[in-house]
Amino acid sequence: MSPTDKPILLDVDGLSVSFATDRGMVPAVRDVSFRVREGEILSIVGESGSGKSVTLLSLLGLHDAKTTRVDGAVSFKGRPILDLPASRMRAIRGREIGLISQDPMTALTPVYTIGWQIAEQIRAHEAISARAARRRAIELLGEVGLSNPGEAVDRYPHQLSGGMRQRAVIAMALSCNPALLVADEPTTALDVTVQAQVLDLLLRLRKDFGSAIILITHDMGVVAEVAEQVAVMYAGRIVERGRTEDVFAAPLHPYTWGLMASIPPLTGARLDKLRSIPGMPPSPETIPAGCGFAPRCAFARSACAERPPLQKVGDQTALCVIGDDERPALRQTALPLEEIA
Ligand SMILES: Nc1ncnc2c1ncn2[C@@H]1O[C@H](COP(=O)(O)OP(=O)(O)O)[C@@H](O)[C@H]1O
Ligand SMILES: [Mg+2]
Repeated sequence: MSPTDKPILLDVDGLSVSFATDRGMVPAVRDVSFRVREGEILSIVGESGSGKSVTLLSLLGLHDAKTTRVDGAVSFKGRPILDLPASRMRAIRGREIGLISQDPMTALTPVYTIGWQIAEQIRAHEAISARAARRRAIELLGEVGLSNPGEAVDRYPHQLSGGMRQRAVIAMALSCNPALLVADEPTTALDVTVQAQVLDLLLRLRKDFGSAIILITHDMGVVAEVAEQVAVMYAGRIVERGRTEDVFAAPLHPYTWGLMASIPPLTGARLDKLRSIPGMPPSPETIPAGCGFAPRCAFARSACAERPPLQKVGDQTALCVIGDDERPALRQTALPLEEIA
């Protein structure tokens, strides 16, 4: 089977999320759609505040239902999950979808050993003895690359380094052998060397366990390294989507150009040419009508005040007025370091 024939595991269709505030309902995520196939790695990339975490948390049922309105349809293994009762959703999260958060400390309790926490997680979903669960915890800690799992299992979170803690959280997320791992900026809090190790680990887990992975990041370099599919998010919308290979070869959206221009070169040289996108992403209250990126876009025009049309090149899509005829020349001015086909 080629990857595109694999069954769809998660199907998100028209997901919108609004928060109740003093100033009324504020839309933070609008009409977001994407699919993840079995065993596939999708990266959702965008600057801080783009709506990446809100998207994930709301589709996993981890939002505050009192203050959050979630619309659209989400199905997992063909079953709709948005309207499931909290208890059913919790069971799916523990057993079939593993969550790895940005800060390992929030996933771990300081007062218990990591072995105990992993074993508890296993026993919440599987009828096995405490002793068997502990054995499994040690195995998992070995699988995520802790060098002395038999000893680490009895450590408290504060006795481990940041990288080891993140590995322990990954072991916990893997404890039920989930079909889908969701990792929200899993390497942001780690130093560069450990970041690379954790990314390698995610790739190996996909190979060994066949888990699909949604990897959230603000770093286009991370996307290039691990993802097959990419969704670029800005101001609550997916502004570009496609196979990573296609998006890197010929990105369609000026926001994607900006993210690509800010990838540090591997050689470390020419840092003077490294650019970041001027300005800041809007908060949900201040997202303009029409194209959300227009205020920061070097190529904006009056038409950007309207909702941008969908551009399509094969499987790749973008929300932008820039058409095929003028795109190559504009892209060349935005991404002068790259020779793009
Ligand atoms: N519970 C909430 N109430 C109001 N606004 C929120 C809430 N949670 C997140 N936001 C806002 O939604 C926007 C998107 O946030 P988030 O998804 O966390 O961004 P990121 O892409 O960095 O993960 C941000 O501007 C954030 O301040
Ligand atoms: Mg986030």
